[in-house]
Amino acid sequence: MPRSGERSLQLGLLLLALMAVVLGMLWWQQHAQRARVRYSADSLLVLGNGFLQRLQGLLLQSLQSGPDAAVRICADTAQRFTEAYARQYGIELRRAALRWRNPRNRADSLEAYWIERFQQWKQEGRTLDTVVVLRYDGYVHVLKPIVLGNPICLMCHGTAEEIPPAVAQLLQERYPEDRARNFRLGDVRGALSVRARADE
Ligand code: HEC
Repeated sequence: MPRSGERSLQLGLLLLALMAVVLGMLWWQQHAQRARVRYSADSLLVLGNGFLQRLQGLLLQSLQSGPDAAVRICADTAQRFTEAYARQYGIELRRAALRWRNPRNRADSLEAYWIERFQQWKQEGRTLDTVVVLRYDGYVHVLKPIVLGNPICLMCHGTAEEIPPAVAQLLQERYPEDRARNFRLGDVRGALSVRARADE
């Protein structure tokens, strides 16, 4: 009896070890594949636009449960969704801002340079349907303005009069350092910033 118990334990351990090896190989294969994915500027832009659309879809959907519920959902989901989307396609992806709500979205110096350009262009009355494509060190980097183009944005990014009290309170709790208020319709809110290994 103890003999056969020992044997099934050994068998169990062997199976576990085998499973670990198979899982490890699958992970490695996926990882290696991701590192090899290369993109053109056009395909990066398509992915970036798709991301913004899906994020906005999530926002609109969550707003059906009311603005304060939407803040909660947005706070829990935005970062996770961004990370999952980037991982899925093997790209780097951000919504960068000078006046950020989540400090993780703070623009780096290159992004800040372009957001300032976008703001300047807006002041000069130029249209903001521009896309900036940069190439360096084997990477292609696509940036485009995110414009605050819909009045619903003001409910969470507008003035104290435009933000409902329940929303203001939640924002205060979740984002004590929030700088993303007092925007106006048509303002440059930030930039979409997508980067990946270049295909050429
Ligand atoms: C229900 C409230 C709500 C509405 C409506 C809303 N936002 Fe936001 N927004 C948030 C929250 C919360 C964050 C922080 C998300 C995070 O933690 O990454 C955020 C972050 C952002 C960011 C990322 C940069 C930063 O400051 O952290 C951008 C860009 C942005 N919003 C643009 C918009 C635009 C454009 C609209 C209108 C289409 C909009 N938002 C509508 C709540 C809202």
